[in-house]
Parts: sequence; C-alpha cells; structure tokens
Amino acid sequence: MLIRTPKDWELPESVVTPESAYELRPRRDFIKTLGLGLAGAALGGNNILAATAGFPSKENPAYPASALKPTAYEHIISYNNFYEFGTDKAEPKDQAKKWKPEPWTVELAGLVRNPAKIEVNDLINKLGGIEQRVYRMRCVEAWSMVIPWDGFQLSKLVALADPKPEAKFLKMTTLLDPKNMPGQRERSLDWPYVEGLHIDEANHELAFIATGIYGKPIPNQNGAPLRLVVPWKYGFKGVKSIVKFEFVAEQPLNTWHVMQSREYGFLANVNPMVDHPRWSQASERIIGAGGVLGARQKTLMFNGYEKQVAPLYQGVDLRKYF
Ligand code: MTE
Repeated sequence: MLIRTPKDWELPESVVTPESAYELRPRRDFIKTLGLGLAGAALGGNNILAATAGFPSKENPAYPASALKPTAYEHIISYNNFYEFGTDKAEPKDQAKKWKPEPWTVELAGLVRNPAKIEVNDLINKLGGIEQRVYRMRCVEAWSMVIPWDGFQLSKLVALADPKPEAKFLKMTTLLDPKNMPGQRERSLDWPYVEGLHIDEANHELAFIATGIYGKPIPNQNGAPLRLVVPWKYGFKGVKSIVKFEFVAEQPLNTWHVMQSREYGFLANVNPMVDHPRWSQASERIIGAGGVLGARQKTLMFNGYEKQVAPLYQGVDLRKYF
C-alpha cells in the first residue's frame, strides 16, 4: 500500500472549505463531463482558441487534488482580477468573452544564449507538454482559492532560454493591446502589466506557467493563453497573458509597486505576520465557502509552502514589509 506523507500546505480537514461549497470530482470524470480531451476544441462559455497543446494533462502526484479541496470551477473563472478587462471582480469574465488570444507568440529575450519568438503551442510541445498541479492561491486582498492548474514548470522555459550568468532577474510582460483590452484604454494601471522574479525564484520547483485550469485551456479572464503561478507569493505576482520573458541584470519595476510603492513590493511573499498598510494579512476569506461573508481561515507563512521556499530567503528579514 502506498502511504503518502501530507505536505505542509495540506490543511487539516477542519479548516478547509465545507463540502457543500465545492465540486470535487475525479479529473477524468470532469473531463468526460465537459466533453473534452480534444485539443483545439472550443471550450466553456468563452470561445477559447489559445494554448490547447498537451491536454488532457496528467496530475503530478506531488501536488494532488486529494491534498487540497479545489475551489469550484465557476468561482475560479468568475471572480477575477484582470484590470485589462475591468477593475470589478465580475467584469473580466464578461469583458474578455470576445477577446481572441490567438495566434500567440511568446518572446524569450534579454541576457540569454537562445533568444526566440515562438508560437505558444510549439513552446509547450518543445518543453515536453503539461501536467496538473493543485496549488493554494492567496490574493493580497486577503481572499484565497485552491486551483487545479495545468501547465509546465517555469524552470523548463528558463533552461530553454539559457540565461547568461549576468541575468539575475526574469521580467514578464502582458500583451499591450488597448484596442481589444478595454481596461488598457483607462489609466487604472501603468500598462503593460509587468512582473518579475529573481532568477532563483524562477528556477524554483514550485514556480509554474499555467495554460489550463481543471484540465482544460485557461479561460481568457484567468490569463489566456499562459500566466505565471507562484503559490508562495501574493496573487498579483501571477502576471497574465504573457508575451515576453526577458532576462535582465537589474530588478524590474513591477506594476503594482509602480502604482502604490508604499503598499506593494517586489518580493510579495505571503506573510501573515506583516500586515498590509490598510488591512491585516493574518487571515483570509475562502472564496466559495460560507455564504456572502465567506468562511475565514488563518493565513500560513509563505501560503503553506514554507519548507519548500524558505531556503530562498536566508538572510532576508521577513518582518520587513518589502
Ligand atoms: N495580470 C494582469 N496582466 N493584469 C491584472 O490585473 N491581476 C493580478 C494577477 N495577474 C492581474 C494580473 C492579481 S491582483 C491577481 S490576485 C491575480 O492575477 C488574479 O488571478 P485570477 O483572476 O486568475 O484569480
């Protein structure tokens, strides 16, 4: 018999979303129900034509759906932050409906030995396809979800680009397309949206590029066709609809830091001991649980991934806000 040792981020049954609030079905059934498995199919409510390569994916047994209770699909795709399509949580789903993120070219640029411009599906195939991982997600606004992502480990893309030793950071940029992204016609943020990681963070096993959710291509509002997922950091680090991966020597200026330098930093590691200047980060509202007000749970250091990522931050004062 195979006995799996629970990982640190697996929460005790008592604190997770109540059964009634989510839908947890074996993935194969889920895919069958949706009539999926066909790469290139038009999917869900939004007609997505983005990155379809690699589906159906296989669960990575190190990050199984059985360890965490995934948030219902409907919540994940209808409660979004994607300012390119509006600042209200419900807007992106509606406003991004007609947007067609294809064809999609990804650029590998900067201090690399292998600069490239590559179509997203070709990129996925070149990197050996996709896998599924269930990760916790904690927004800086003190709400959380659990999301079954499909995609690939970011370190594979880093290896493909083959950065030179001078490359210390990875800067990632969202598409700039004010014609089709109505939010970019407003000054709600400094466009295009930019995020970054230290190269060691980008190479960490947990850093992931998502191309899907719940076994199907990622909906437009969640960042089609590919977005960053770094589960130990606040959600705003998860830059969506990336067109450029640029390897640079200096720490890039990330969008939310540019917007509000007193409130949002570059590291943005989840830390329940350090409050946001305007609210506590000690606990979080679980989306989809507990009615209108939502059930709350305690926030974990590094969002529960402390054992995995703490070695990255030796010597860093984690009580300091940035
Ligand atoms: N990426 C872009 N390009 N634009 C955005 O507005 N919002 C960020 C992040 N990535 C954002 C973005 C924030 S604040 C969060 S919490 C997550 O995306 C939300 O991801 P979700 O909508 O898939 O839950």
